[in-house]
Amino acid sequence: MTGYRLTRLLPPDHLHHALRADVRDGLTGEPKRLPPKWFYDARGSELFEEITRLPEYYPTRAEREILTTRAADIATTTRARTLVELGSGSSEKTRLLLDALRAAGTLERYVPVDVSESALESAATSLTADYPGLDVAAVLSDFTQSLGLPDGGGPRLVVFLGGTLGNLLPAERAAFLTGLRAQLLPGDWLLLGTDLVKDPAVLVAAYDDAAGVTAAFNRNLLSVLNRELNADFEPEQFDHVALWDAEHEWIEMRLRSRRAQTVKIADLGLPVHFEAGEELHTEVSAKFRRERVERELFAAGLRLADWWTDDEGRFGLSLSRPFEDGSD
Ligand code: AVJ
Repeated sequence: MTGYRLTRLLPPDHLHHALRADVRDGLTGEPKRLPPKWFYDARGSELFEEITRLPEYYPTRAEREILTTRAADIATTTRARTLVELGSGSSEKTRLLLDALRAAGTLERYVPVDVSESALESAATSLTADYPGLDVAAVLSDFTQSLGLPDGGGPRLVVFLGGTLGNLLPAERAAFLTGLRAQLLPGDWLLLGTDLVKDPAVLVAAYDDAAGVTAAFNRNLLSVLNRELNADFEPEQFDHVALWDAEHEWIEMRLRSRRAQTVKIADLGLPVHFEAGEELHTEVSAKFRRERVERELFAAGLRLADWWTDDEGRFGLSLSRPFEDGSD
């Protein structure tokens, strides 16, 4: 059996330390907030997969529609030998790109990059089985810190799908795109998925579904803190809130305390008081317009080469490439 390779760019205790730091900062600040990356323990990843199948949650289906119709174009334009996927998760939509690059005859290597070793393991195992001869070189890293792109194997196509860029705040987005651009070589490409601005009622429903799956996903964050830091949150004592911020053009998810309560985070020796109605900010999911995507890419040194949406214009997929300072 040919296996896959795994490069660990995170020390084994990285996540634990990062979580402690985020919780200490986030729960002692005003307003209280936690970064959305902590949603994704095994249960959270399962709940997210369930979200992607909800009737209200269109982004996954819309992005898959675009990939299905455009994967062949992407393969013939980029002629990529290496496909790098940031935040690869289950690598499910990736297969459309792997198939197209294989059909174009250029594909040699797939590099999934994720913070979850279990997600990398299961994706890499099933991909090595289904794509014989494909070199699968997984990288365990936090892409908001270091990407760890492998050298060589160009042209490389870096893909960042699902609209996850929208989880970063504007300044974090700029830093992320600039850092990514700095690691790209002439001939490399970025394929970026971004959810688009639309009727707020459609957006809010996508983040506050009737079956309550997104509410469970949001509250699962509290279970993560209970398990990892010996906290004593009672998740049912918090209501799920999803709202549209029209000024910033983003969805926000929050957890609203149903009553005044003090939670103890034993491992940090930290009591955290919530007033009745006080909200813990758990996620920003920014929605874009083509002009903003193009402008933010350009500011990072990337020029838009192609832009596609699904038929209903709900989701955007952009293909861009680095340009040199001064050459234009
Ligand atoms: C995986 C980050 C793209 O922002 O839409 C789904 C996560 N949060 N429902 C998103 C999410 C609530 C999702 N991303």
